[in-house]
Amino acid sequence: MPIQHPTRSILRSILDFVMLIVVLIFTGPFVKIFDYFSMSSRNCFTTHKRHAKKVANVQAQVRRWIQGGRKGQMCSARPGWKSFSIHKVDKRGFYQVEVDLNDIIEIDVVKKRLTIEPGMMMGQLTKILTDKGFTIPVVPELDTLTVGGLICGGGIETSSHHHGLFSDVVTSFELVTADGDVLNCSETENSDYFYAVPGSSGTVGFLTSATIPLIPAGKYMQIEYVHVDSIPNAVKLMQQRNKNHAYVEGIIYSMTDVMLMFGDMTSNPSDPSRINYINRWYKPFFHNIVENVMNNIKSSKNNAKYIEYFPLRDYFHRHSRGMFWQAENTLPALSNPLILLLFGWLHPLNTHAVWRLLPKFVIRFITGDQLLQDFCVPTVKLDEFLQKCDTIFKVYPIWLCPVKMQNKSMAKTPEIYGGDYMDLGFYGPPINSEHSISDRIRECEQYMLKNNGFLGIYAEIFLTKGELRQIHCTAAYDKVRNSSSSCRQGFPDVFDKITRRIK
Ligand SMILES: Cc1cc2nc3c(=O)[nH]c(=O)nc-3n(C[C@H](O)[C@H](O)[C@H](O)COP(=O)(O)OP(=O)(O)OC[C@H]3O[C@@H](n4cnc5c(N)ncnc54)[C@H](O)[C@@H]3O)c2cc1C
Ligand SMILES: *[C@@H]1O[C@H](CO)[C@@H](O)[C@H](O)[C@H]1NC(C)=O
Ligand SMILES: *[C@@H]1O[C@H](CO)[C@@H](O)[C@H](O)[C@H]1NC(C)=O
Ligand SMILES: *[C@@H]1O[C@H](CO)[C@@H](O)[C@H](O)[C@H]1NC(C)=O
Repeated sequence: MPIQHPTRSILRSILDFVMLIVVLIFTGPFVKIFDYFSMSSRNCFTTHKRHAKKVANVQAQVRRWIQGGRKGQMCSARPGWKSFSIHKVDKRGFYQVEVDLNDIIEIDVVKKRLTIEPGMMMGQLTKILTDKGFTIPVVPELDTLTVGGLICGGGIETSSHHHGLFSDVVTSFELVTADGDVLNCSETENSDYFYAVPGSSGTVGFLTSATIPLIPAGKYMQIEYVHVDSIPNAVKLMQQRNKNHAYVEGIIYSMTDVMLMFGDMTSNPSDPSRINYINRWYKPFFHNIVENVMNNIKSSKNNAKYIEYFPLRDYFHRHSRGMFWQAENTLPALSNPLILLLFGWLHPLNTHAVWRLLPKFVIRFITGDQLLQDFCVPTVKLDEFLQKCDTIFKVYPIWLCPVKMQNKSMAKTPEIYGGDYMDLGFYGPPINSEHSISDRIRECEQYMLKNNGFLGIYAEIFLTKGELRQIHCTAAYDKVRNSSSSCRQGFPDVFDKITRRIK
């Protein structure tokens, strides 16, 4: 069965055309210039001394809040357009603390560790590290995601089946608390804080640095594509093979067309003619490249798999140019080969610039009819849950990322599943139904609640505070907040914060 792409109304097609002209000719070049400067990886280094001064500045602002009688709640002064999350917190009326820490403090190649400030973006970090022959264990792929947002919000990648979430690989961090103290936190020092901060959405303190292990990087990623024809077969294959591969992801094009990609770093591709520079401007978006490989595999009977090599950094940011498939969902013409040849250099569209330039009503219009959610289910429930989604949403493709849940984040991982989970990213317009999209999301949330699943807290959430508490392990979080009245006064409860964001 051919992959079905959603059809658009005439009105929407006219609007698409206007948007295409605006993006390509008027705003695109500005966005690109903004991107060039904001993504620059030069001058991204600081010293321990200068870092300490910046931290003292954060501390001084918190102390002024205490001296001023702890009026109002605190939040960082980071503007909403810098956040990747679609639903933002309205910061008006908060005591805003400037946390302007965006640099690398130290790359220690002997001890193999990186000490970094929270504002650094993945797109900058991978550039700096891969040039030096290193990477970090979990590299979330979209360029503008930050270290701080990934620890305090949540981050996941194709290596998460070994390493867990982004925050699980962090070995220590530094935090300015609501009492104005600077704490070093690790498994052995201030360990309650160490477990309370991941996933806390900035409601425990201001993160000011993090230490993350470095691992040696190859120059290329070897990718083996495998096509499977059902979800149970995909699960079976991943259970056999995931442990032998460092990077694993899937793209589900339909319930009978799943592409799995098993990846390993290498510096010596056995067949250099198979190096694919997937992020060159004229190349199709990554999900289209994979779809083409799938069609080739399916049409050649005896060839169930195919191997290619990507330059390492191209692999890490393979979904940036197409924003998974969101660029195409928003404007289908963007993936047209001719448009790519002429205007492909505009990608990836810097999300900071896009959020900043687009008026809120436009963002609401183009995302209003879409599902933009991550659900994370125990692997044994994957088929059942996807059957349900196939009936109520029929949104394809679906991003599939296996993850080993650890007990270091707030997510509750019952023993029966041994931490064996699958993260699913649904990005796109669902089929029509008499039920609203929100009602259908609610139905999935109830499924998560009953089946030990989790939700991406960046997305739209309808569960109540009490229900969210049921799917999270809040022991360390509650202990830390209970022990400090400044913390309770200074920051909202995490579940209040994420359920009252502006939509
Ligand atoms: C369509 C879509 C697809 C996505 N796909 C992926 C994916 O493939 N992989 C993945 O890992 N993630 C993905 N995400 C989720 C993304 O990782 C999270 O939204 C992440 O938290 C955003 O990072 P950010 O840097 O924009 O952080 P922000 O949104 O700015 O911050 C997240 C939270 O962390 C807090 N915070 C940030 N910095 C600090 C600090 N210094 N001190 C204290 N608190 C702080 C903020 O207050 C906020 O509550 C996706 C999101 C969307 C919308
Ligand atoms: C925190 O760690 C840093 C670097 O290891 C050290 O210089 C500093 O003294 C520590 N701070 C506290 C309060 O222990
Ligand atoms: C997480 O903690 C729970 C409760 O303490 C335990 O039963 C479970 O085995 C742990 N899970 C993992 C993956 O470590
Ligand atoms: C925190 O305080 C609340 C009530 O004040 C109490 O119910 C809860 O058990 C406490 N939790 C911890 C972990 O101390």
